[in-house]
This record gives sequence, structure tokens and C-alpha cells, in this order.
Amino acid sequence: MSFNILISDPLSEDGIFPLRQAEGMNIVVDTTCTPAELAEKIRDYDALLVRSQTQVTRDIIENAPNLKIIGRAGVGVDNIDLDAATEHGIIVVNAPDGNTNSAAEHTIAMLTALARKIPQAFNSLKSGEWDRKSFIGVELKNKTLGVIGLGRIGAEVAARAKGQRMNVIAYDPFLTEEKAKKMGISSGTVEEVLKAADFITIHTPLLKETRNMINAEAFAIMKEGVQIVNCARGGIIDEDALYDAIVSKKVAGAALDVFEQEPFVGHKLLTLPEVIATPHLGASTIEAQESVAIDVSHDVVTFLNGGAVRNP
Ligand code: NAD
Ligand code: MLT
Repeated sequence: MSFNILISDPLSEDGIFPLRQAEGMNIVVDTTCTPAELAEKIRDYDALLVRSQTQVTRDIIENAPNLKIIGRAGVGVDNIDLDAATEHGIIVVNAPDGNTNSAAEHTIAMLTALARKIPQAFNSLKSGEWDRKSFIGVELKNKTLGVIGLGRIGAEVAARAKGQRMNVIAYDPFLTEEKAKKMGISSGTVEEVLKAADFITIHTPLLKETRNMINAEAFAIMKEGVQIVNCARGGIIDEDALYDAIVSKKVAGAALDVFEQEPFVGHKLLTLPEVIATPHLGASTIEAQESVAIDVSHDVVTFLNGGAVRNP
């Protein structure tokens, strides 16, 4: 038996070793397809492997009579039309654990860079200035970090923030008082977290319920001078409302790794000195990329050979 596998986003070559090693897998790596080209090309494939760049739309799924499995080398499956996949009997697998550590480390890096204005100071120094007055930051110690979404990444971020001597308060629909106590943090409603926090970090998936959850109303109940980190998904924060909240000085700074439209270039948020940003790099480490690609490659090989997958 042989299967055609298309990899349409850059994946770790070491990570796809399980696919390359398996018998009967014809692997094509093509990371340059436009959506229309992909909708045409996908006809011949049994499996599609993606990261976050490829949008696996209904159009693509409806043009894929042989497609049996979509592997998402990462956590969020918001770039895949799950309803269309289900209607067509296509299984979707992801890699929920492989990039947890990297995403948590990136969040802490962004939080620290935001508090101490490191990117702004670096840019100033690179441009030939020696300016020690414009980049006065704030300490993290004794500040309150509000964590919205205390799953794998949120919990890792909370543990690390405690190491920075921060007080942590979290909201997650599945967070119990008992679990919070065990973790040495507080729990609250989303409003309580938004009101109490000096820094807020978002770690929910992008869902109907979380789209624009951080909007003008949410900004209105936050502390004056709050700072926001989003290393989860664009679309959870309303970007226009964030822009207005920064311009009005309600929000003192924002560190963003993810955006409603990616690539995120030429956006008005990037013109604000209070905003620091990275181009969706939360999971971009050698370790995480290898790990997520190994996980989905294993699942794809197992499934195509008639076995049960771990992360449907
Ligand atoms: P997870 O599933 O372990 O945790 C998500 C948590 O969000 C869950 O505990 C869930 O109960 C909670 N949640 C759901 N709806 C909520 C709501 N309305 N309010 C508050 N909490 C809510 O996922 P994870 O591994 O922690 O990843 C979280 C998200 O981070 C992913 O969905 C993905 O979009 C994003 N992510 C981004 C990067 C990056 O490169 N920037 C890397 C990995 C993951
Ligand atoms: C994820 O959901 O895992 C992240 O978006 C990381 C990525 O694949 O870029």
C-alpha cells in the first residue's frame, strides 16, 4: 500500500523522519502553493501536514477526494475548517504538548522585554543613541500577572511568573479553587482577573467564545497602565480596541506574537512605541519544531496503516 503525503508548511526535517522512514509514503514538500494551487494539488493526496500558515479551508477539503488525515504540527487547529473535515470523514490530529515549553518561554521573554522596554532600548542604541532616560521600566516582582486560559502553556507561564516573585491570578472555565491553591496562585472570574492584573497574558485557543474577548469593554475595567501579552492567537484581542487603549494611555504596553491577519506588516499597532512584537515565533525553537513534527508524523503513519492516533 502506498500513500501520498503533502507537507505545505516548513516542518523540521528531523521531525518528519518517522514519515521518511515508513514504507510506502510518497512525501512531497511544497511550501509555496497559493490557496488556489493547493485546492488543485490536494486532489492526489492522502495526507496533508501543516503548521499555522496554510489555511485548510472548506474549498481545499472539498477538492480532496482522497484526503484521509490532516496533521497540524502545533496546538491551535483554528487554521483548519474542522466542520468541513468532519463532514468529509477526514481526521485532524495535532501536537498538543510539543511546543508548550517553547511557547511559555517566549511568553516570559516577551513579558520581561515589555516591562524593561528592551526592544525599544536596543533599537535606540543601534541607531547610535546612548539614551538612559527614555527606557525606565517596571519590576515584575510583587506585580500581579493575570492569566486568561490556564491550560498547558498558561500553567507553565504561571509557574515561571511565580519564579519572578509575581502574584498570579488566573481565569479558566476548568480552574477549581483547589487546583489554584495547589499551584500557589489565585483564581477569579474573567472580570476579577482583568481588574486585578498589572500584566495580563492570554493563553486560550481562538474559539467563537474567545474571539475579541479582550475588547473595549474589557480594557475599560483594567487598571490604568496595565500591560498585555498575547502569545496565543490573533483575534482574541480586538486590535482596534487595543490601539485606542494604548493611545489613550489606559494600556502602557503590549507584547504581541500573534495577529488577526498574518503576516502582520504595516499595521498601525506597529507604529506605537509601546508595542513590541515578534512574527509568531512562540513555537519557533529547534526542540519544539522537531517535537511537534515527530508527533504528527507518527500519528499520520499510524493512522494510514490502520492504527489509532493519540491526538484526534
Ligand atoms: P490548552 O488546550 O492546553 O489550554 C487552553 C486553555 O484555555 C484550556 O485550559 C481551556 O480551558 C482554556 N479556555 C478555553 N476557553 C476559555 C475562555 N473562554 N476563557 C478562559 N480560558 C479558556 O492549550 P495550550 O497548549 O495551552 O495553548 C493555548 C493556545 O496557545 C493554543 O490554542 C494556540 O492557539 C496558542 N499557541 C500559540 C503558540 C505561538 O506560537 N504563539 C504556540 C503554541 C500555542
Ligand atoms: C501553535 O498553535 O502550536 C502555534 O501557532 C505554533 C505554530 O505552529 O506556529
